[in-house]
Amino acid sequence: MPFGMEDALGPNRPAPPIHLLGRFQRRHPGGVKDPMISLAKAGPYTRLRNELAASPRTWLITGVAGFIGSNILHELLSFGQNVVGLDNFSTGYQANLDDVLATPAGKKGSFRLYKGDIRDIQACRKACRGVDYVLHHAALGSVPRSIDDPALSNSVNVDGFINVLLASNEAGVKRIVYASTCAIYGDSPELPLSEASTGNLLSPYAATKLANEIYASVFQRVYGVQLVGLRYFNIFGPRQDPNGAYAAVIPRWISNLLSGEACQIFGDGETSRDFCYVANVAQANILAATSARSFGDAEVYNVGLGRETTLNELFRMIRLGLVGLEPSIATAQPVYSHFRDGDIRRSGADITKIQQQLEYEPTHTIAQGLGEALEWYVEHSAKSALVEESRIAALT
Ligand SMILES: NC(=O)c1ccc[n+]([C@@H]2O[C@H](COP(=O)([O-])OP(=O)(O)OC[C@H]3O[C@@H](n4cnc5c(N)ncnc54)[C@H](O)[C@@H]3O)[C@@H](O)[C@H]2O)c1
Repeated sequence: MPFGMEDALGPNRPAPPIHLLGRFQRRHPGGVKDPMISLAKAGPYTRLRNELAASPRTWLITGVAGFIGSNILHELLSFGQNVVGLDNFSTGYQANLDDVLATPAGKKGSFRLYKGDIRDIQACRKACRGVDYVLHHAALGSVPRSIDDPALSNSVNVDGFINVLLASNEAGVKRIVYASTCAIYGDSPELPLSEASTGNLLSPYAATKLANEIYASVFQRVYGVQLVGLRYFNIFGPRQDPNGAYAAVIPRWISNLLSGEACQIFGDGETSRDFCYVANVAQANILAATSARSFGDAEVYNVGLGRETTLNELFRMIRLGLVGLEPSIATAQPVYSHFRDGDIRRSGADITKIQQQLEYEPTHTIAQGLGEALEWYVEHSAKSALVEESRIAALT
């Protein structure tokens, strides 16, 4: 194991109960063999947070009710920023916002929500008024959905994106940071994937995000809008929808293990991805928005942990994290089935560029991210099971 909870806790130590995992890691950083644990405390990002806390800015997060948007909201509010949100709740939830606003951090800044669609330019104009920085995250992110309905993905991800750029430009915002994706690399065989890598795009979703990058460079050149694209790898964390039609692997496996269902792995489990905790993504957004650097046209950065993790390794980490809650999980094994057509075998980000140019340093490894998020996943899983039970009861 190159890293993970096995590393962090030592192979012979019993796993702590799940509700203690996050606390264990926070209270005993010396016990975690990972040099990244203290970087955030000493690093440039902490200095930046302090500066922004002393002189708060106004931020617009589009897609604020979604998984990543709500986590960035939490981070910005935690150091007293003013945040405006725009969302049409197509894949996001009011509960995500309630969750953030109920925390102590959520009470530190100010938050104003606009319910609206980025395909409506007036909604974008209203939301952009008086904003310093835009963090654009509203999009339809599902690859299968884009294959089923490419026109819909295009209208949200491309038409909506242009509206956000136009409204931001009219409002004179200082910079727009927008969510791009590692799907842009398609089937590129290069590893790790640097920003210069190219491959054949494998979905309409990837095409919409590449179109964003092209429009970003044009808007920068033609209208002088300041834009930075962040190519996210496989992001995980609290408020990631475990019950969505295209649920991501981590919440899905947690939910399966807790309900005694098998976790399915397509292929032999040696498929790898760069799984990155969402707190690292929030940091990347805030650094990119406020960097004093003058960005060139179409500046894009990879955002990941900078390490590959196989599905087998990920499964073992999750199982270890859950065993304190349900001992029978210790013997759970994944079920392997055929490789899926079009699945990329390996993926991992080269994060040198963002580290060097924006001073990005991931604060959370996968183990630390799971330690923080598992409690949320478990609680969420339990709630959805109750909802499902009452739904069945109502039908019988
Ligand atoms: N989660 C990942 O691992 C990942 C990886 C690469 C890129 N991204 C990108 O990051 C961004 C956020 O992803 P996420 O995982 O948080 O997805 P999400 O679905 O949880 O969040 C997207 C949010 O955008 C909102 N939205 C969608 N269409 C809208 C519209 N027309 N008008 C206004 N709001 C709208 C949704 O209601 C939702 O709240 C997306 O742009 C996605 O493509 C995510």
